[in-house]
Parts: sequence; structure tokens; C-alpha cells
Amino acid sequence: MGENAKAMSLAVIILAAGKGVRMNSRLPKVLHPVLKKPMLLRVVEAALELSPRRICVVVGHGRDAVARTLEGYAAETIVQEPQLGTGHAVSCCGNVLGDFGGDVLILSGDVPSAGSATLRELVDSHSESGADVSFVTASVKNPRGYGRIVRDLDGRALRVVEEKDATGAERELKEINAGIYCARSDFLWESLGMLDSENSQGEYYLPGIVDVCVSSGKKLRAVAADPKEVLGVNTREELAEAERAARREVNRRHMENGVTITDPETAYISEDARIGKDTIIYPNTHVFGKSVIGSGCRVGPSVYVEDSTVGDGVEIRFSSYLVGCEVGDGTVMGPFCHLRPEARVGEGAKIGNFVEIKKSEIGRGSKVPHLSYVGDAEVGEGVNVGAGTITCNYDGRDKHRTVIEDGAFIGSDTMLVAPVKVGAGAITAAGSTITKDVSPDALAIERAQQKEIEGWAKRSRKKKEKS
Ligand code: UD1
Ligand code: CA
Repeated sequence: MGENAKAMSLAVIILAAGKGVRMNSRLPKVLHPVLKKPMLLRVVEAALELSPRRICVVVGHGRDAVARTLEGYAAETIVQEPQLGTGHAVSCCGNVLGDFGGDVLILSGDVPSAGSATLRELVDSHSESGADVSFVTASVKNPRGYGRIVRDLDGRALRVVEEKDATGAERELKEINAGIYCARSDFLWESLGMLDSENSQGEYYLPGIVDVCVSSGKKLRAVAADPKEVLGVNTREELAEAERAARREVNRRHMENGVTITDPETAYISEDARIGKDTIIYPNTHVFGKSVIGSGCRVGPSVYVEDSTVGDGVEIRFSSYLVGCEVGDGTVMGPFCHLRPEARVGEGAKIGNFVEIKKSEIGRGSKVPHLSYVGDAEVGEGVNVGAGTITCNYDGRDKHRTVIEDGAFIGSDTMLVAPVKVGAGAITAAGSTITKDVSPDALAIERAQQKEIEGWAKRSRKKKEKS
């Protein structure tokens, strides 16, 4: 069968109706994010890569929120009400998939790490082997909470026993059910009809189709997978584990691509971020969203970058926070700077400590080294902005622009009351409040005359000594 024919004969069911009691959360369990993306969307995206004919997501608990999350995805929702177990959840798709004659891949919305390659392998080997049911197992160190695989003396899988129903000996088994199944649709609907709810939870268990398969002499395949891909998230602790595993995988990929990460356990990098060769990521650094960082950069420690574009050879020093900005090649940021959305910093510029830049352009080679606020401004090339300079961009109602042309020198503690423009090569004297445009190459000074009272300090000291 060709790729396309195979895809056309596949339907996917994703179970996402359960309450997730063990999460102890108001948010439906499957919407809890791993690396900022809801678990359910990870599962849907992996399924979409198989190009199945349709994807049915079984919803119930918090179904409005779950459906909203699925907006824009080629997946339909099927309501399970009440929720009587995983087997019952799949039965709820019987109406819409009843006529479908191909294979059905069943996934759990709370098993977020199964990659599309693993799923594809399961689906392909299932159809090639002519099995009635294939399901994924894994041998794990700590099987707590999972259904265990019971095998016969010849090593053939016989059934899945849930932890709550297991005997002491069965609990010792380390091979678990991943909650991922592929079944021929005719056998699936038939076997679901044979499930009962006689177990400790009074639920219709989907793994019961494994027992039915064996007892009715049908062909069953247990497919072993990497334990990393089958982690089920039922608790916050497992959520943290899934997060850690996903992070490790992303970091591993970056290291493989030539990025140095000095402490991968404390590097928080999104899957969508791109980082160039020979960039060094120091501890406790976050690179989120669709950030792009060039090559040969040094980032961190303790830096936060989100949805930003950073050129080559950039240094982003300790405790800097950059969101939605663009930073040119060879710039130096921080320590302790804050670049807000639409800050654009040109090549070779320097933004120093306790400087906040918002919606402003800073030209090539310009410097804003200390304690400044630059907002709604256009700063030319080769400009020096002295310590403590503030663009007073907001009059309580509207925002106004400040323009500083090439080569201007803004003295320390200048207040630039916008709208205002400082011409090319002009100087503002330290401490000036600039309310009018400054002509190119002029000096603008706005300061009270300095007075001097001869000997005043000495007289004052003497007075104090006497009293
Ligand atoms: C399930 C399996 C267990 C397996 C484990 C793997 C059953 C009975 N047990 O256990 O063998 O080792 O997954 O992670 O299937 N759901 C519904 N409707 C329901 C109940 C659940 O849609 O009525 C959904 C849940 O939202 C969840 C998934 O099915 O996404 C699994 O349910 P959960 O209660 O987490 O099952 P486990 O106890 O983890
Ligand atoms: Ca689960």
C-alpha cells in the first residue's frame, strides 16, 4: 500500500475527557502545558503528521476549554458524558467512525511525548503484520500508576492489569501499558461491546480489548517503545518530569547543532527557538517563543529572551530581559537591561545596566550605558546617551516621539520632553530639561545659574562644633 492509501485508511481517536483528579487543578489536565504548549496539542500535532483521514478528540470534563484549544486544528470533538472509562470513551466515537473500515489509532491526551515517528512505526507495522490489535508497552524503572503487562510463560502478552486491580506480584511487573493502541476497526467495535465494568473503579477499561483479543484467538502485538516517549502525566510531579524530559531533548538538539550549554539542566529553551553555532548559553537562561539567536553570542547567566531576534557575536549579560525586540550584530546588552517590544538596536550598539528601551530604534554604534528610559524614540548612529536620561514620552494621555539625530551627545540626566528633536551633532547639557527642538551642532542648556557663597561651608561647620 502507498503512503497515501495507508493514511486514508487511518483514523485517530484521542482521549481527553477525563477529570484529571490527581492534578488537583481547575484547568482540564490535557490543557496543562509542557514547554508552553498544552499536552493535548502535542498529541494532536503528532497525530496530524500521520495525515489520517480524521482525528476525533473525546471531550467531557472542561470540554468548552478543550474545544477552544483545538480551534484551528483539523480535529473534531466527540462528547463523552458521563465519563465511564477509557473503553467507554472510545465507544463514544462509534457513531462517527462506525462506517470507517480502516485502522484506528488510539492516543491519550495525557501522554504528550510520543513522537510521530514512533506512532508511524506502530501504525505501519500494525497494518503490515495483519494484527487485530497492536499496543505500545515500555519497561520502566518506576511503573507506579500504570497498567502492567501480564505475559504467559512463553512471554506472550495476555492482558493489562490496572494498578488498582493488581495483586502484589503483578505490581512488581515493570512492563507498562503506554495507552497507545492501533486496532482494526471492525475488531475494535466488536471488542468494545464485550467490555464490562467489573473492576475496582467500576469503569469500562480500554485495555480490556487486549484480553478480548487474546481470549477470542485474535492476533495481538505488543510493541516495545522508549520509556521516554510513554510518560503519562497524571500529577503535577509527572508534569514537571515531562517538562524536564522535553527540555532535555530540545537542549540536546541545540548542543548537537554546535551550541554550548554550560548547564543544560537550567537552560530553558523553546522548541521554536533557533540558536547559531558557537553561541554559549550560561546557566538559568530562558530563550522562549520564536526567538532567533545568532552565532558566537554569549547569553547569560540568568537572561530572559522571548520572541526576539539577536544577531551574531552579541553579548547579553546577567539578568537582562528582552521581549519582542531586535538586536544587531556585535551589540552588548546589560547587565540588567530591559528591552521591550519593538526595541530595535543597531549593530555594535551598547545598552547598559538599568536601561529600559521600548518601541525605539537605537542606531548603529550608539550607546545608552546607564540608568535610562528610552521610549517611542528614534536614536541615530553614533549617539551617546548619558546616564539618567529619560524620554518623557507620555503626557498622561498620549505618547509622543523623541528624535535624536546622528552623532548627538545627550548629557547625563537630560529630560527629553516629547515631542522633541535633537539635531545631528548637537549636545544637551547635563541636567537639562529639553522641551524645544535643538538645532544640529548646537548646545542646549537649560539650568539655573550656579551661585557660589564664599566660605559658607566652613562657617557652617564651626557653628556646629560650638553647639
Ligand atoms: C491508562 C490505562 C493504563 C495505562 C495508562 C498510560 C486505562 C483503564 N488504563 O491509565 O493501563 O498504563 O493510561 O498512561 O485505560 N479518559 C477519557 N474518558 C474517561 C476516562 C479517561 O477520555 O472516561 C481519558 C483521560 O482524559 C486521559 C486518558 O483517557 O487522557 C487516560 O485516562 P487516565 O484516567 O489518565 O488513565 P490512567 O489511569 O493513566
Ligand atoms: Ca493517565
